[in-house]
Amino acid sequence: MSILRSVVLGCGAYLPKRILSNDDLARTVDTSDEWIVQRTGIRQRHVAAPGEFTSHLGIAAAGAAIADAGVDPQSIDLIVVATSTPDNTFPATAVSVQDGLGITGGAAFDLQAVCSGFVFGLATADGLLRTREFKRALVIGAETFSRILDWTDRTTCVLFGDGAGAVVLEGQDQPGTTEDRGVLTSRLRSDGRYKMKLYVDGGPSSTGTVGHLRMEGREVFRHAVAMISDVVTEAFRETGYCVDDIDWFVPHQANQRIIDGSARKLGIDPKKIVSTVDRHANTSAASIPLALAAARADGRIKHGDLVLLEAMGGGFTWGALLLRW
Ligand code: UT7
Repeated sequence: MSILRSVVLGCGAYLPKRILSNDDLARTVDTSDEWIVQRTGIRQRHVAAPGEFTSHLGIAAAGAAIADAGVDPQSIDLIVVATSTPDNTFPATAVSVQDGLGITGGAAFDLQAVCSGFVFGLATADGLLRTREFKRALVIGAETFSRILDWTDRTTCVLFGDGAGAVVLEGQDQPGTTEDRGVLTSRLRSDGRYKMKLYVDGGPSSTGTVGHLRMEGREVFRHAVAMISDVVTEAFRETGYCVDDIDWFVPHQANQRIIDGSARKLGIDPKKIVSTVDRHANTSAASIPLALAAARADGRIKHGDLVLLEAMGGGFTWGALLLRW
């Protein structure tokens, strides 16, 4: 029995030109390269230029993904932008991306699940493609977290960066086995009891301001590994795959210690971890597609590889997704 799967046709990324090193930050807040590297693995982050918006980053990443896929932009009939740093309260950043790409048909909307946004976005696009109403989707994670950081708060400003990554997905009939290409399963979770552990202290309906990111980092850290492991285990149970079957583990890039802790708890071979946190820092919804694009560009991820994605972030939200590239 054949089944419709959402198959990745291509991926791409974009990083703003300006790089801010740990030493640069140590000149403005009471921190050090040693502390940041030891606690997080982060060495640098990219920062958007004045006038460079989330949509601009998203358009550049999407353009690269479309070129990689080798498809006509007009054939894309669904655009999902995962972001917590939209250009405006509305319209959705996705329509600016759509306009920037010259696409005039289909549907485009934003999705907000903070650092889990890309996993939620992929799962949402997968669900919509499987209705057969849409044929080709762009799923983009794009963020300018530099705009919501309190640059005087050393506990948060050293952790985040700007960037965007994108994939093109196509609904394709596949034989209906776990050997199929495409998204095989996803598991999404949220628990609003934790909403004040990682939040922005502003918004259109509360303060009428944009606000700044606030985080109880130790609390987020404490929950991350367990929550991630739970959804990954469920994804394995659903598909019948086990940890040894995966070729690549592409986690949300928040902190190397969380990545290593999750891999250790799940029993994932460290050689299978794709990590970009040292170069990109935490780019929230953009971190996974940025890492995917890096691992595609250097030849690690190949057609047919089984790839495990996972993320955890504000809300809390968390999720895992298994796909065959
Ligand atoms: O995508 C999801 C979003 N967020 C995350 O995943 C972040 C999750 N949390 C973390 O990654 C870690 O908790 C942090 C990296 C944020 C912090 O690491 P930690 O090992 O949990 O450190 P801590 O918060 O327990 O702080 C230890 C010390 C404190 O000093 P005292 O109280 O021991 O004197 C902090 O004030 O480090 C101090 N500190 C810093 N020192 C130098 C905090 N930030 C800095 C800094 N530079 N940037």
